[in-house]
Amino acid sequence: MKSLCPCFFLALCLLLIFPFSAFSDPLHVHSITPFFTTNNLQLLDNNGAFLSSINHTFEASFVTQSVQPPRIYFSVIHVSTQSVIWTANRNTPVSNSANVTLTIDGLAITDESKELIWSTPPLSSPVSALLLLETGNLVLVDENNVSLWQSFDYPTDTIVTGQRFPAGKSLVSAASADDFSPANYSLTLNGEDLALQWFGQTYWRLSMDTHSFKFSNKPVSYMEINSDGLYLYGGSGNDSFVISKLRLSSSNFTIARIGYGGRFTISSSNSTENVNLTQELLRPSKFCLVSNICGELGFCTLKQINKINYCTCLEGFQKDSTGCSPIEKSISLPTGCNGSSSDRELESASSVASYMNLGTGFQYIANDFAMPAKRGVDLSVCQDLCSQNCSCLGFFYRYSSGSCYPVENHFGSVYEIGTTEPEPPSAYIKVLEKSSPSPGTATAITNKKHGFPVIGIVFISLSGFGLIVIITALAILWLHRKRTSEKVALSLGRWDSSSSTAFGTTSIPGLPSSFKYEEIEKATDDFSTQIGSGGFGTVYKGTMADETKVAIKKIKNLGVRGKEEFFTELRIIGSIHHVNLVRLKGFCVHRSSRFLVYEFMNRGSLERILFGDGPVLEWRDRCKIVLGTARALTYLHSGCQQKIIHCDIKPENILLSESLQVKVSDFGLSKLLDHETSKLLTTLRGTRGYLAPEWITSSGITDKTDVYSFGMVLLEIVSGKRNCPLLAQNTSIGTSSSSSSLEGPTFFPALAFEMHKERRYSELADPRLEGRVSGEEIEKIVRIALCCLHIVPALRPSMQNVVDMLEGRIPIGNPIVYALNFLLSFGGGQT
Ligand SMILES: *[C@@H]1O[C@H](CO)[C@@H](O)[C@H](O)[C@H]1NC(C)=O
Ligand SMILES: *[C@@H]1O[C@H](CO)[C@@H](O)[C@H](O)[C@H]1NC(C)=O
Ligand SMILES: *[C@@H]1O[C@H](CO)[C@@H](O)[C@H](O)[C@H]1NC(C)=O
Ligand SMILES: *[C@@H]1O[C@H](CO)[C@@H](O)[C@H](O)[C@H]1NC(C)=O
Ligand SMILES: *[C@@H]1O[C@H](CO)[C@@H](O)[C@H](O)[C@H]1NC(C)=O
Ligand SMILES: *[C@@H]1O[C@H](CO)[C@@H](O)[C@H](O)[C@H]1NC(C)=O
Ligand SMILES: *[C@@H]1O[C@H](CO)[C@@H](O)[C@H](O)[C@H]1NC(C)=O
Ligand SMILES: *[C@@H]1O[C@H](CO)[C@@H](O)[C@H](O)[C@H]1NC(C)=O
Ligand SMILES: *[C@@H]1O[C@H](CO)[C@@H](O)[C@H](O)[C@H]1NC(C)=O
Ligand SMILES: *[C@@H]1O[C@H](CO)[C@@H](O)[C@H](O)[C@H]1NC(C)=O
Repeated sequence: MKSLCPCFFLALCLLLIFPFSAFSDPLHVHSITPFFTTNNLQLLDNNGAFLSSINHTFEASFVTQSVQPPRIYFSVIHVSTQSVIWTANRNTPVSNSANVTLTIDGLAITDESKELIWSTPPLSSPVSALLLLETGNLVLVDENNVSLWQSFDYPTDTIVTGQRFPAGKSLVSAASADDFSPANYSLTLNGEDLALQWFGQTYWRLSMDTHSFKFSNKPVSYMEINSDGLYLYGGSGNDSFVISKLRLSSSNFTIARIGYGGRFTISSSNSTENVNLTQELLRPSKFCLVSNICGELGFCTLKQINKINYCTCLEGFQKDSTGCSPIEKSISLPTGCNGSSSDRELESASSVASYMNLGTGFQYIANDFAMPAKRGVDLSVCQDLCSQNCSCLGFFYRYSSGSCYPVENHFGSVYEIGTTEPEPPSAYIKVLEKSSPSPGTATAITNKKHGFPVIGIVFISLSGFGLIVIITALAILWLHRKRTSEKVALSLGRWDSSSSTAFGTTSIPGLPSSFKYEEIEKATDDFSTQIGSGGFGTVYKGTMADETKVAIKKIKNLGVRGKEEFFTELRIIGSIHHVNLVRLKGFCVHRSSRFLVYEFMNRGSLERILFGDGPVLEWRDRCKIVLGTARALTYLHSGCQQKIIHCDIKPENILLSESLQVKVSDFGLSKLLDHETSKLLTTLRGTRGYLAPEWITSSGITDKTDVYSFGMVLLEIVSGKRNCPLLAQNTSIGTSSSSSSLEGPTFFPALAFEMHKERRYSELADPRLEGRVSGEEIEKIVRIALCCLHIVPALRPSMQNVVDMLEGRIPIGNPIVYALNFLLSFGGGQT
C-alpha cells in the first residue's frame, strides 16, 4: 500500500499539472500516426489544435460557426490571419462530439450516431502519417513518405501561395460567411482562361482584365500564386512556361478566394503576427457586375438606395424570396426546363411564349463575355430562337447590330449603365399569362416602361400620340429613302417585310444618315479636291450644304456581295463612337458606287505633320498622339460590341484635329471588301512597311496584327522618318523582289533593336527635336514598340496592355531578343 502512495500522488499531480501546461503552452503536434481519434470537445479541453505546421503558420482543427445550432467544420486555418483555407466537410457541418479519425485507410469524420460524414477516397497503400506542411497542405503519406492524398488537390473556395490549381478544376463559393456549403458562384480554370461563372454564365475573365498580361496562346495547364503575382502556366513540372500573369505586390503569404458574394479576392500579408490581410485585388471591381448580386431579375443601380443597398426591382416588379417578380398577378415567369408540370402545361398550351419588353438603360453582365447566339438578325428571329427552347428565359437584343443574346436557365440581375454607353441593348423576358392566353395575341410584346432610358421611349408606348408620331416618322423616313436611291429602299424594304413584329422597322435607326448623290457631287464640287487615296479608294474634301467640312471617301474594290452586307457593316461602323476615332457622318449609294462621309480633320494626317516640312512635332505632342492611337485601337479591339481589326494602321490613317486630338480613320472597312477576293486584296489592305509577318505566312490575322503595325508607327514617331524610306509612297502591291534593297541600316526597326541591345536610346531620337527629349522617354517608347514587333503574335502585348504601359499602370515590357532577330535579316516583313 505504501509503495502505491507516491505513485498515486505523482499521477494526481500530473493530471493536475498537465491541463495547466497545455493552457500556457498549447500543444503543437506536427504529425499524427494511426490509430488516432479526437473531437472538438477534447481539443477545446486541451486548448490545442488537431495538427499544426512546423512553424505554426497553419493549423488543422475544428472551426465553430456560432449559429443555432452551431456549425462545426474540420478545416485548415492560416493562423496569423485566422483565414480558413480548406474545409473537409463543407456540405455537412457536425456537432462538438463528432470524431475525426486517422486510420491506415485514411482520414474520416463521423457524427455522434457514428455515421460517416466525410472521408478521404480509397488510397493505394496504408497510411503511415498525416502531416500539415508549412504551405498549408494537409498530406497523408505512406511509410516511404510518398504522398497518398493531399488537401491541395481538393480545393474548396480558396488557394494559397504555392498551391497548384490544375486546369479543369473550380473553386466554388460558400453560401454565406457562416455556412461553408457550396453555392452558385465558381472560379473555373479551363484550358484557356480563368473565369468567374454563375450557372455557366461568365461575369469575369482574366484575359479581359486590365491588369492581366498574356504571353502565349498555348493551352493552360495550371494556375499558381507566387510571391509577386497570379500566373497561368502551360506545360507541367520543369518544362512549364508562363501563359499569362496578373501582377501583385510582393508578399510572403497570399490567399485567393471566391467569396460568398461571388467576388474573387486576392489578399496578402507579410507578417506572422496577428494582422488583417491587405486586399490586393477584387473582381469584378464593381458590386453591380456580379451576375446575381440583386437576385434573379433584380436591378442593381448606380445610386445607393440606403447605406448598404444598391439593389431594387425594375418598374412593374416586386421583391420576392429569390429576387424580383412581376407585380401583375396574371403573369408569371417560366421556371426553365425544370419547371413544375403545371407550368409546363401552361407553357405548351400557349404554344408561343409572350415577351415583356423591359426597355433599355441596363445591361446583363454575361452579355459582355458571351458571343451573341445570332448576329444581324431581326428581333423576331431572336424571339423565335428563345421560344423554341424551354431553357431560354428571355433575351437581350441590340438593334444596331441585330445581335441576339438569349439568357439560359437562370436570369440573374441586371445593372444600370451609365449614360455614356453608346447603345444599350433592349431586354425581353419570357412570360406566361395565367388567365386566358388567346392564341391570336400570344406573340404580342408587352411593353413595360422603365424609368430613365431616353432611347427606350421609342419602344415604350405604341398607343395614341406615340403611335401617330412613329408612323409619321417611319413614313417620312421611308419616302426619304425611296427618293434617295431605289437600291437603298429596296434593301431596307426587305428588312421590313421579313420582320413579323411592329418593332422590326426600328432596325433602321442603326444606319448613319444617307445622302443623295447630288449632295455629294455638290459638296465636293464635282470631286475637285482630292486629299488622299489608298487601298480603299479616293478621298475628297467637301463642304456640305450646312457649311460643315467633310471628307468623302469613294470606295473602290467593293465586293459583289455588296448591298445588304454593306448596310450591315455600315451599321456597325456607324455605331462606333470614340473620341479617338473619326466619326462616320453618313453614306451614299449611287449605282454601283459607295461613298462614306466622315468628319473633316483640320490638321490632316500624322504622315503630313511628322514627315512634312512644317514645324517639328514636339515630343509631348508625339506622346499624346501615341496614347490617343493606342486608345483608339484598344477600343476597336475590346471596347465595342464586335471586335474590329483595323488592318491598316499607318501614319496616313492617324488624323489630327485642331487641338492635335487623334482621330483614327478607315476602321471597319476591311469587312466591306468582297470575301472572295479578300485573300488577294490582303496585301492591298495593309500597307507595306507596316505589315506583320503573319500577313505573308498567312497564319491568322488577329488584333495582334494591328499591334505590329502600331509598333512600326511608334518607331516612326520616335525617329520622325519613315522606317523604310524606299517604300514611302508605295501603298499598293508590288512584287516581292523589290524588297531586297531594304537591308542595312536604313531599316530603322533593325537599328532600334541594335541600339536597344546597347541601351543607346537617345541616339534614336528625331534629330529635329535637338535634345528636347530624354533618353528615358525614348527608351520607354522604343521598348514598347519592340514588344509590339515580336514575330510571334502571342508575344506581343494587347493594345490594352500598351495603354497600361504608356500610362504607367504596368511596367514596360522587356523586348525578347529571339523574337526580334528577324528584323535584322528580314526587311520589315515584305518577303
Ligand atoms: C521555420 O522558421 C525557421 C526560422 O524562422 C526557418 O529557418 C525555417 O525554414 C522555417 N521552416 C519552414 C518549414 O518553413
Ligand atoms: C469518438 O471516439 C471515442 C474514442 O475512440 C469513442 O469512445 C466515441 O464513442 C467516439 N464518438 C463517436 C460519436 O463516434
Ligand atoms: C516527409 O516529407 C515531408 C514533405 O514532403 C518532409 O517535410 C519530411 O521531412 C519528410 N520526412 C521524412 C522522414 O523523410
Ligand atoms: C443557388 O441556386 C439555387 C437555385 O436557384 C437556389 O435555390 C439557392 O438558394 C442558391 N444558393 C445560394 C447560396 O444562393
Ligand atoms: C524534369 O527534370 C528531371 C531531371 O531534371 C527529368 O528527369 C524529368 O524528365 C523532367 N520532366 C519533364 C516533364 O521534363
Ligand atoms: C510586403 O512587403 C513588400 C516589400 O517587402 C511590400 O511591397 C508589400 O506591400 C507588403 N505587403 C503587405 C501586404 O504588407
Ligand atoms: C517576408 O518576406 C521578406 C522578403 O520579401 C522578408 O524580409 C521577411 O522576413 C518575411 N517575413 C516573414 C514574416 O517571413
Ligand atoms: C483588423 O480589422 C478589424 C476590423 O476591421 C479592426 O478592428 C482591427 O483593429 C484590425 N487589426 C489590425 C491589426 O489592423
Ligand atoms: C436549348 O438550350 C440549351 C442550352 O443552351 C441547349 O443545350 C439545347 O441544345 C437547346 N435545345 C434546343 C432544342 O435548341
Ligand atoms: C434540372 O434538374 C436536373 C435534375 O434534377 C439538374 O441536374 C439540373 O441541373 C437542373 N437544371 C437546372 C437548369 O436547374
